[in-house]
Amino acid sequence: MYGTSEIVDAAAPVDAERTAFRRTEKLYKLYKTQAPKSWKNQAHRKTDLSGVIDFHSVLESFKQCGATPAGIFKYECRSFNRPVFCFEERPGFYFIPGALTDDEQVHWIRESLISFPQPPNRTNHTEAYGPIFGLFDAAQNNKVLVEAKSTSSEVDRILGYDKTNLNSKRFSFSEYCMITNNDESYKSVAASLLLRKLRWSTLGLQFDWSKRNYAVSLPHKRIPDDLCLVAKKMAVPAMPNGEEFQPEAAIVNYFGPSDMLGGHLDDMEKDWSKPIVSISLGCKAIFLLGGKSREDMPIAMFLRSGDIVLMAGEARECFHGVPRIFTDSEHADNVDLLSQFSNEEDLCFREYIKTSRININIRQVN
Ligand code: SIN
Repeated sequence: MYGTSEIVDAAAPVDAERTAFRRTEKLYKLYKTQAPKSWKNQAHRKTDLSGVIDFHSVLESFKQCGATPAGIFKYECRSFNRPVFCFEERPGFYFIPGALTDDEQVHWIRESLISFPQPPNRTNHTEAYGPIFGLFDAAQNNKVLVEAKSTSSEVDRILGYDKTNLNSKRFSFSEYCMITNNDESYKSVAASLLLRKLRWSTLGLQFDWSKRNYAVSLPHKRIPDDLCLVAKKMAVPAMPNGEEFQPEAAIVNYFGPSDMLGGHLDDMEKDWSKPIVSISLGCKAIFLLGGKSREDMPIAMFLRSGDIVLMAGEARECFHGVPRIFTDSEHADNVDLLSQFSNEEDLCFREYIKTSRININIRQVN
C-alpha cells in the first residue's frame, strides 16, 4: 500500500469489524469534517495526540533523571555512541532520536529531490511516462512534460524527438504548455504537478511493485556510497554478531499533506535478521508499530526529521505504517530545518519540504 493518498469522511460509522491496526489508523488519519469542494476551506477534526510516544521527550527526561517510561528502555550498545531506545514488547525495533544533524538532513532532502528520482532509478511516474530526467529542475523552470508522438516535424524538432531512433525518449520537457495542431493534441503535464505527485523512487536493486519483489534484471546503479556509509553506521545496534550491514536497495517515499502509508510488512528480503534502516526527513509524522497480527494493538510514536528507526529480527514481522503527517505550523515541527533553506536558490527546497515528508528506507536484500 505504498503512497496511498486517502482522506476519510469523519461522519462514516465506526466499523467494529476492523482490525486493531485499522482502528488505530482511523484514530490518527487526517479527517475532513465536511465535504466542500476546495480542500483549502476544510476544517480538520482535532486529533487526540496524548497517546503518541515522543522519543525526543523520552530522551530529554532520560538525560535529566535517567528514567524511561514503562515499557521503554535505553539500549546499551558499546560500538554505538548515540542514544537508542527500544520497546520491551517489540524486540528488534530501535529508535535513534535526532540521528542526523541539520546539515545531513538538508543534504538528503536535496538528494531525494534531485538525484534519487533520476533514471535508471524508477519512480511511480516511470510506468506512465518512461524515464524522466531532471524533474526537480524542470518543475522549478515551469516546464511541461510533452509526449513526442507527433506527425509534425516542427514539434519533433522542439522536443528533440527522433522517429527513426527507437530509443528516442517518448516524453521530453518543453517550455510549451500545450502543443496542438489541427488533428492531434499532445499529452502534456506540468513538471510541478509531477513533482507534487512523486510518491516513490527506488535506489539500487529496483523493486517491482506489481510482483512485490526485486527485479534484478532491471538496469540499476549501486546505492550512493555516502548513503551506504550512513546506513552501515546507523544499522550497528541492530546487526547480529557485529556483522556489517550491506545496503543493496532503498525505497524513497514522498508524502504530501494528505498522504498516508497503510499498515504493511516489508518481507521481500531474504534475511530478516538484518535491519531496515529508515530515515525520516521533513514534516513530523505518526508511525504505528503493530504486532505480528493486525489484531495486535499498535504503538503510536512521532517521527521527526533526522530520526532513524531500525526494524530487524522479530520486528520485521510486525505490521507498521504512517497514518498521518503534520504540515500545520503548530505540529510540523520543522522550523529549524526550514531555516537551513534560507538562501534564494534554496527556496524551492523550502517550499517543498514545508508541506512534505520524505522517508528513505535502506535494505540488505540477499
Ligand atoms: C515504510 O514502512 O516502508 C516507511 C515508514 C516511514 O515512512 O517512516
